Amino acid sequence: MKNKVVLVSGASSGIGFITASYLYEQGYEVVGISRSYPKKEYAFKYQLCDITDESQIDLLKKWLEQEYESIDILINSAGMGISGAIENTPFDQVKKIYDVNVFGHYLMTKSLLSLIRKSKGGRIINISSIASDIALPFQAFYSMTKASIDAFTKALYLELKPFKIQVACLMPGDIKTDFTQNRTKPYQNENHLYDERIKNSLMRMEKDEENGMDPIRIAKKIYKMINQRKMPIRTTVGLSYKTIRVLQRILPEKFIYFIVKKLYG
Ligand SMILES: NC(=O)c1ccc[n+]([C@@H]2O[C@H](COP(=O)([O-])OP(=O)(O)OC[C@H]3O[C@@H](n4cnc5c(N)ncnc54)[C@H](OP(=O)(O)O)[C@@H]3O)[C@@H](O)[C@H]2O)c1
Repeated sequence: MKNKVVLVSGASSGIGFITASYLYEQGYEVVGISRSYPKKEYAFKYQLCDITDESQIDLLKKWLEQEYESIDILINSAGMGISGAIENTPFDQVKKIYDVNVFGHYLMTKSLLSLIRKSKGGRIINISSIASDIALPFQAFYSMTKASIDAFTKALYLELKPFKIQVACLMPGDIKTDFTQNRTKPYQNENHLYDERIKNSLMRMEKDEENGMDPIRIAKKIYKMINQRKMPIRTTVGLSYKTIRVLQRILPEKFIYFIVKKLYG
């Protein structure tokens, strides 16, 4: 039997890289993509592709069509972060994070669907974030893009059901990756009104990420999901994040945001 073909976006680092490496070790035929090659050693196939550029995605699709009859699993992991006050974030930076975190995933999915449909039981996993359910101050645009990915996932789940393509959203909490150092910080040297609060909020966030979960746990969760008979529509990893999701559903919203303000506000 042929190995299942998995395409992982954002495979040059972090969650995408570890997931691509782990699935390759488990015997999958893995193709990683991003704008640059991984800095660490890797054995899976690699194609350069900017997911915000339709012409590059078209070229990637042509290459995939030559190599494979179908794509079995698409993992949309490419992403970026941005921090700063809503009032001071330049519009072009807001458009950029939407281009990568939302429209990029949409373009990849739209383009590859015809290949995924050819698979017997295709699967799509979008990497969202726990920050999609609980919006964080000075991370508004990140939370907004991840909430969009959740909505995208749910609608796609319904649209693709008749084709037996399963769609899910994985919402990690703090993970120790290059995401922290790659985060765009347009607020720097900007507006003194928020400076102190942003500094404190970001310091806490970065500390949490640096002490965060090993990305291998996300890779193993993805492996479990693609082997599950039925994937959950939205899920997370780790007891503390599962508890946050439950509490968020049962506690009054004002109480939740009272805590969030204490931590990040
Ligand atoms: N780390 C966390 O704490 C955390 C928590 C929750 C959710 N997440 C989500 O997990 C996903 C992966 O993040 P990570 O932690 O692995 O961060 P990371 O190490 O910074 O990886 C981000 C990846 O996205 C790729 N990428 C960025 N822009 C791209 C573009 N235009 N086209 C193609 N690829 C692009 C980067 O590669 P190139 O620069 O080579 O293009 C890189 O491979 C993201 O969606 C993030 O929002 C992360």
